[in-house]
Amino acid sequence: MDKKLYSEHLATLRNRYDEILEQCGYETLNVFSGKSKVQFLDDNYYPFRVNPQFKALVPVTDNPHSWVIYTRGKKPKLLFYRPVDFWHYVPPAPQTFWSDEYEIELLSKPADAQQFLTAERAAFIGEPEGLQGWPLGDHNPEPLLARLHWARAYKTPYEMACLRQANQLAVRAHRAAEAAFREGASEFEINLAYLKAAGQGESQMPYGNIVGLNEHAAILHYTHLNTARLPETELRSFLIDAGADCHGYCADITRTYAYRDGEFAELVAAMDEKEQELVAGLKPGVAYPDLHRECHHKVGQLLQQLGVIKTSAESAVASGLTRTFMPHGLGHFLGLQVHDVGGHQSAAEGGITPPPQEYPFLRTSRTIEANQVFTIEPGLYFIDSLLSELKDSALASEVHWDKVEALRPYGGVRIEDNVIVHSDRIENITRDAYEQ
Ligand code: GLY
Ligand code: MN
Ligand code: MN
Repeated sequence: MDKKLYSEHLATLRNRYDEILEQCGYETLNVFSGKSKVQFLDDNYYPFRVNPQFKALVPVTDNPHSWVIYTRGKKPKLLFYRPVDFWHYVPPAPQTFWSDEYEIELLSKPADAQQFLTAERAAFIGEPEGLQGWPLGDHNPEPLLARLHWARAYKTPYEMACLRQANQLAVRAHRAAEAAFREGASEFEINLAYLKAAGQGESQMPYGNIVGLNEHAAILHYTHLNTARLPETELRSFLIDAGADCHGYCADITRTYAYRDGEFAELVAAMDEKEQELVAGLKPGVAYPDLHRECHHKVGQLLQQLGVIKTSAESAVASGLTRTFMPHGLGHFLGLQVHDVGGHQSAAEGGITPPPQEYPFLRTSRTIEANQVFTIEPGLYFIDSLLSELKDSALASEVHWDKVEALRPYGGVRIEDNVIVHSDRIENITRDAYEQ
């Protein structure tokens, strides 16, 4: 990664942090990377997941017991954990594109951090377990976190570069996954092909990969990874929702494939078109929930064209019928976390704007602004539990159930891209990666 780009990024962050710390009455911020958690009645650890507010400052995602200490107006200090340890890998002292921006102290023991920390006019961000009695300051103060979360919605050019690169890695892996599907691989084998092409392990993925064949495409967060191969005659559809990581930033991409030509292949192609229309609707000033409503209209149109519903798209949206087939939100903020923070926040100081009552799972109730990064991920599924609720409801008569039965074996379709909103254009970093 480009050193200058990071340097400018950190300059922007320091300005933001200076202002936020002053607003909240603090001089110093102590940010803890976290520590590994041991499994119950065991001596093995869960995979380490870094505090997102730590990786927001320094692109280190795999080193517990480390700290960023930021005092207003001063060069940030990084306490980098380097124990003498013959059991585990110990990372080298950082010497890379970001390291000149930090005053680096190496820690050989976790407790050595205490001599550098201060509680005076200080706030602590992290999980406090095991740090009782340390000089940390106020723990995770809400007004401070709210402002930091709010600021994270506006990405710097460095962050955009990381997100582009994460997309390039993920797209390479999506291509390998499609090839494996066409060769008849099992879900488990497809996932291996994905990880190999991404060059990243399972614990580096920003979320559990969703790799579903046939009916499994209808399980929104299906991460089971069946090891059985299906006979060629039984291969119908494949939905994969999987990302990649670049310096702590996430890709979150979904593609759906039909094994053969026919009605489901046509549905995938039609959804692909609708998805791109929705991406084009990401404009500064538009309320994201309005785009979500538009998505429901498009789902209604698809349902009508397929002959699944007897009513118009408008009436299917108004009655709530489309919600059976698209129960999740159109998309969300993307960044250091796959569902990046602040999607329901009403102002920098805090406060929540809930999503519209009829769409409780929508993760974004904000108005779109420049430099924000979103996913757009419309879907249309045949989900057993929701269909049986519908069958028992007053809307049952508005559905051609034979059509539902014909499509149920395909599970469903979702197409998901990652998009940067600029003041004068949108940049679909997923489609761009496919074109490279
Ligand atoms: N992969 C989870 C999501 O798309 O939100
Ligand atoms: Mn996804
Ligand atoms: Mn997503």
